Amino acid sequence: MNSKIAGVGYYVPEKIVTNNDLKQYMDTTDEWIQERTGIRERRYAEKHKETATTMATEAAIKAIDNAGISKEDIDFIIFATISPDYYFPGCGVLLQRELGITKSTIGALDVRNQCSGFVYALSVADKFVKTGTYKNILVVGSEMHSMGLDYSTRGRGVSVIFGDGAGAVIVQPTEDESKGILTTHLHSDGTFAEELALINPGCHGGYHDEDKEKYGFVSPEIPGEIFVTQAMIDNHLLYPYMNGQLVFKNAIVRFKEVIMEALETAQLKPEDLDMFIPHQANLRISQYIQKTMGLSDDQVYNNIQKYGNTTAASIPIALAEACGEGKVKEGDLVCLAAFGSGFTWGSALIRW
Ligand code: UT7
Repeated sequence: MNSKIAGVGYYVPEKIVTNNDLKQYMDTTDEWIQERTGIRERRYAEKHKETATTMATEAAIKAIDNAGISKEDIDFIIFATISPDYYFPGCGVLLQRELGITKSTIGALDVRNQCSGFVYALSVADKFVKTGTYKNILVVGSEMHSMGLDYSTRGRGVSVIFGDGAGAVIVQPTEDESKGILTTHLHSDGTFAEELALINPGCHGGYHDEDKEKYGFVSPEIPGEIFVTQAMIDNHLLYPYMNGQLVFKNAIVRFKEVIMEALETAQLKPEDLDMFIPHQANLRISQYIQKTMGLSDDQVYNNIQKYGNTTAASIPIALAEACGEGKVKEGDLVCLAAFGSGFTWGSALIRW
């Protein structure tokens, strides 16, 4: 039994935030952002109304419709996000509830693999379908970054990059061995875990006095006493941190490695690719990979210019948009690849 993507869908919030709009909060320029990242604008969800779950629901409804199934056919949910509605439970069950899939027989799995989250989630779905466990898996990547960014000049290196949105696919079995998800590859290396991270609030403890500056607190006298402290708020420690140049240098190496790994496994070459859809981390990263792999503009899909980096949502949004524009057609060879915090990275090669 092979597995295929039977339906795609995406949702982005209505509110467009341009680079110039960000200038009211921080010292930045449209030129800097476009030159370093390629981003012109991003979408921000409506606070108190939209969340990662509500956006995922919109994307999921479109994917279900696109696959020609009904929500009752869904037998498993995999939800990738790093900006969940709640610390726990994860968004998988919230999406199940929003969709009104009340039967208790299905399962919902939450994936926390940051920018690689969708590729990890897709890989899990692929294996469940290939082993005959499930027949209609809803795989979603959704992010609401706008709620948790440092909009002061101190946070500008991170906050200008990220945007909100959601993408979804339906993974189904197919008996056609020449089509569907040909191969997936997942990797990680925790050496640089804190170089792109949001470590507070967390249960890491801050056990030593010297941790106070780094984590904003030391170990509590009473267990459970301290989780979020005033020092964390005052020192901007509740925002993501990124060592951008280190991430960039690792990304360009790992992206190429994991794409080549997928192609070599399938005994194919870069010139065989009809469409490469990278995680939309930075247009400069995509362009570097395109150049070093000798791909033409027609072989690569980028939409970071419009949406920024939407982490786990970026690949399914781009995939659904490319399909909608007729840029991914039946029989095409499509490669998805991602790299991000962890570090984690992965790829999927699909015969559409
Ligand atoms: O999706 C997860 C994976 N993430 C990535 O793949 C991101 C990888 N990294 C990057 O995309 C880039 O490193 C960034 C776009 C994040 C940053 O670009 P950079 O060329 O590496 O800039 P930088 O961090 O080295 O900063 C250069 C200068 C600094 O000023 P000084 O110290 O040279 O005076 C920054 O303070 O640019 C300054 N800067 C800004 N200036 C205007 C940083 N952010 C901004 C900003 N506007 N938004």
